[in-house]
Amino acid sequence: MVNVSYPVTLIPGDGIGPEVAEATVRAVNATGVSIDWQRADLNASIISKAGQVLPPHVIESLERTHVGLKGPVTTPIAGGFQSVNVALRKQFDLYANVRPVCSLPGLKTRFDDVKIDMVIFRENTEDLYSGLEHEVVKDVVTSLKVITRAASIRIAEYAFAFAKNSGRKKVAAIHKANIMKLADGLFLRCCREVAARFPDIEYKELIVDNASLQLVIRPETFDILLLPNLYGDIVSDLAAGLVGGLGVVPGANMGDRDAVFEAVHGSAPDIAGKGIANPTALILSSALMLLHLGERDAAKRLRGAIERVYAEQKHLPPDVGGNASTGEFTDAVIANLN
Ligand code: NAI
Repeated sequence: MVNVSYPVTLIPGDGIGPEVAEATVRAVNATGVSIDWQRADLNASIISKAGQVLPPHVIESLERTHVGLKGPVTTPIAGGFQSVNVALRKQFDLYANVRPVCSLPGLKTRFDDVKIDMVIFRENTEDLYSGLEHEVVKDVVTSLKVITRAASIRIAEYAFAFAKNSGRKKVAAIHKANIMKLADGLFLRCCREVAARFPDIEYKELIVDNASLQLVIRPETFDILLLPNLYGDIVSDLAAGLVGGLGVVPGANMGDRDAVFEAVHGSAPDIAGKGIANPTALILSSALMLLHLGERDAAKRLRGAIERVYAEQKHLPPDVGGNASTGEFTDAVIANLN
């Protein structure tokens, strides 16, 4: 039998990135799937030395492997270099940001009397993330919100196809087309057009402010959420809060050829280096990566091991109410793999 080894670009990132990346590599390796990890470091000092947010070693590696597992990278606020994440998504045309938000068994949250199981589909390449900002005259700035038919149709098709293939029943498009009649209006028209091709899937529309309210009041009624970039970003953190916080929500940036898997959370500078970061989000992201690689059984075992560790409640990290270190939690996941 030929042993397959999947080449994967590993970008540990900075802040808690290297800690959760190390934990994730250990957990994935323990599933028995052979991964050829090709490490590509990326942080503020590498970026300033290279003079570009995506230095050639990162681009070349992803062009070779087509699959990445990425920790967070700190983005300077109100100035400094452009976001690495935005650049990566544009460079590799990773147009669909997919974020499953599910209750974990045993994890105490404000909503633990209901089962939350939704998947967020966030358009990943345009909207206010186009980075087109301009100071018209001193103290007057415009920021361009770009919405195109091509990108809106593409993310809607991705979300509906996923709904159909995974047996999900409902898609809610989230917008602010009552105010941004042209931009969000176009996004909505594209969602409606695609929805018409999937008559078996219930389609509805919610204005983003009302959607935020409904998510907090009755989160269990949501199935698939379909959003332009900015609302998708904000609603993802809100949804993470419903199921235990940023430490537990995975994500995938999908293109037609390439895919980069990363948690929803950032570099968490407040806890970096303390050994207490929760690696659940990145480990669950790696389970999505295993699915993408066709390693269904390993993906299922990894998710199952995480669920058992949560159900036991003995080795949980501090952000979800326990006192285990990153390493102790990971050991428990590995011990529960089979
Ligand atoms: P953050 O997600 O880093 O942290 C928000 C809060 O959640 C903090 O209190 C943090 O300790 C906690 N938290 C996050 N992940 C956790 C984990 N795995 N375990 C335990 N606690 C966790 O958001 P923040 O502070 O707004 O951003 C920090 C930096 O990260 C910024 O530079 C931002 O631009 C960057 N960022 C990078 C992302 C990426 O590379 N994909 C995504 C989001 C933010």
